[in-house]
Amino acid sequence: MTEAAQARTGGLYVIRRAREEDLPAVMMVNLRSLPENYWYGFFLSILRSWGRYFYVAEKDGEIVGYAMCRVEWVSDPVLIGEHNELEEGPLTFREKLKRIMGRQYKVVHLISIAVLPEHRKRGIGSELLRRIIDEATRDPGVVSIYLEVRVSNEPAIRLYEKFGFRKARIIRGYYRDGEDAYVMVLRIRPPEKGQSRDATDTGII
Ligand SMILES: CC(C)(COP(=O)(O)OP(=O)(O)OC[C@H]1O[C@@H](n2cnc3c(N)ncnc32)[C@H](O)[C@@H]1OP(=O)(O)O)[C@@H](O)C(=O)NCCC(=O)NCCS
Repeated sequence: MTEAAQARTGGLYVIRRAREEDLPAVMMVNLRSLPENYWYGFFLSILRSWGRYFYVAEKDGEIVGYAMCRVEWVSDPVLIGEHNELEEGPLTFREKLKRIMGRQYKVVHLISIAVLPEHRKRGIGSELLRRIIDEATRDPGVVSIYLEVRVSNEPAIRLYEKFGFRKARIIRGYYRDGEDAYVMVLRIRPPEKGQSRDATDTGII
């Protein structure tokens, strides 16, 4: 934790990379915090594949928060931070084609972040997100970080905006209960300075 954050949280919280033995506690935090829950094997595969983007917050040996991400390769101009549908309108036909067939760029998808209710508003969510952003910035290939968030989730939206994420798209009825999602995107570096690959290299086309 940064000194400022330690001062804010009383220096009691440790932010560190997640380990396999943390996963049951991470699942408890997830269950108590969000209606979007996942099975053990999902957490495990995320940790094993992209452990550098999986952090936990710990206090006196108890896991009180986590943030986990997946690294993806995408062509969608919104997800790579090149186009904002809410500010610039829907994708043009040409951009839609790019979305399907264009070069793919390396992006980080924040799948889930949560802090136990009794530990919120002490800067832990910020510290977890800061670690993810720092990691993506250190990874020379990553062009953006993106996430989905309920349109009604004001605390989370404020947290993301504080770190520079912008609402870039609405996905109607994204959640099981029918609520819409904002896609929020933080550009890490221009696509030409990141890592990309031809979609034809992947066997998709
Ligand atoms: C979103 C969440 C992770 C934030 O964690 P946190 O530890 O409380 O966050 P922080 O204390 O670092 O707060 C960071 C910023 O978020 C915003 N924020 C946090 N709680 C807020 C609230 N209740 N109302 C409005 N803004 C809030 C503020 O902008 C705050 O910055 P500030 O303290 O400088 O004003 C936490 O509320 C949570 O676990 N929510 C349930 C799970 C969830 O919704 N996850 C996101 C799914 S997309």
